[in-house]
Amino acid sequence: MIELNDISVHFAGKKNVVEAVKNVNLTIGRGEVFGIVGSSGAGKSTLLRTMNLLEKPTSGDVLINDVKINKFKGENLRKVRLKIGMIFQHYNLINTKTVFENVAFAMKVAGKTKEERKKHIPEILSLVGLSEKSDVFPSKLSGGQKQRVGIARAIANNPDILLCDEPTSALDLETTSSILDLIKDINKKMGITTVLISHEMNIIKKICDKVAVMENGRVVEQGSVYEVFTNPQHDFTKQLIDHTINLEIPEELLKIQKGKLIRLIFKGDLALEPVISETIKKNDVTITILHGKIEYISGKPIGILVIGIDGSELSIEKSIIYLKENVAELELI
Ligand SMILES: Nc1ncnc2c1ncn2[C@@H]1O[C@H](COP(=O)(O)OP(=O)(O)OP(=O)(O)O)[C@@H](O)[C@H]1O
Ligand SMILES: [Mg+2]
Repeated sequence: MIELNDISVHFAGKKNVVEAVKNVNLTIGRGEVFGIVGSSGAGKSTLLRTMNLLEKPTSGDVLINDVKINKFKGENLRKVRLKIGMIFQHYNLINTKTVFENVAFAMKVAGKTKEERKKHIPEILSLVGLSEKSDVFPSKLSGGQKQRVGIARAIANNPDILLCDEPTSALDLETTSSILDLIKDINKKMGITTVLISHEMNIIKKICDKVAVMENGRVVEQGSVYEVFTNPQHDFTKQLIDHTINLEIPEELLKIQKGKLIRLIFKGDLALEPVISETIKKNDVTITILHGKIEYISGKPIGILVIGIDGSELSIEKSIIYLKENVAELELI
C-alpha cells in the first residue's frame, strides 16, 4: 500500500545541511494502523510528509499501491493527494468557516458538486459525532471537537490513506482516548490505511498494529506493536517503553533490598505465580515482589514483575537459570 524505499530528506541550512530523514525503508500494509514514534526532532513529521509529497525526498522512492509517485507533478500529484487525508496537532481549521463549511471546502477542492456535499457532509458529521455542531464556528468548539472536524475534513473525499501528525498532543487524556477510538473506528469501518505519529508509546500501544521507532532521522526498529513492546531491541525503544510502563522503584526500597534485583517479563498466557513458587521450592531462596503490572497490547497480555531474590550465591544462580527458562525475558537490574 505505502512503501518507502531508502528515503532521505535533507534541508539546506545557512551553515550546514540538516539530515532530517536518513535512509528509511518502510512498508505499510492496506488497512493497517501504523505508528511512528520518536522524540522531538527525530524526523517523524518530515517522514510522514513524504507520503503525500508535501515533502519531496532528497533521495529514495515513495510508492502508493505499487506506483512510484515521487516524480508526480500537477494533475497526477493532485489526484494522489485527494486519496490521502491528513490531520494535524493544531487542527488547521478555517476559523471563518463553520464546521459544515470547513468540510465542504475540502470537498469543493476535490470537485464535488453542491448536491454531493449536502448529502455527504451530514453523514460524515454523524460519523465523527458532530451532527449538532454543523453550523458552529471553530472558536466555539473544544479541542476534541475541533479535531473531530479535522478528521471529518480529512475523510470527506473517501481517502485510502489517513496521515495523522500527533493528532492528540494538544488534548487531555480522556479526549485523547476518544479521538484515538474514533480514528480506529474509521480505520475499521472505511478500511483506511492509517499512519499515526506520536512521541508516546502509550498512544501507539492503544490503536496501532505496527510501529516504527525513529531516532535522529533513522528508523532504528520496527515490527508488530506487541513484538516491539515485549521484546525491544534498541536502547532508545527500551527507554520509551520503560517510560510508558513506569516501573520505577523507590530508591529507599532498592537500598534495603538484599540479594539480586531482577525484572521478569511474561508474555501471552504464561502463568506467573507457579513460576515464582517453583523457583522458591526448587532452590531455597526468598523472593520479594517489588513491582508488578499486566498490560494488554492488541488484546494480548504482557506481565512485568520486579523481584528481589535472596539466598546463597549458588541458589540465586540456579534460580536465575530456572527463571530464564520459564519467562519471556529476564533482566538483572
Ligand atoms: N523545512 C525545514 N527546513 C529546515 N529544517 C527542517 C525543516 N523541517 C524540519 N526540519 C528539521 O528536521 C528535523 C526533523 O524535524 P521533524 O519536524 O520531522 O521532527 P519531528 O520528529 O516531527 O519532531 P516533533 O516531535 O517536534 O514534531 C529537525 O531537526 C528540524 O529542525
Ligand atoms: Mg513533528
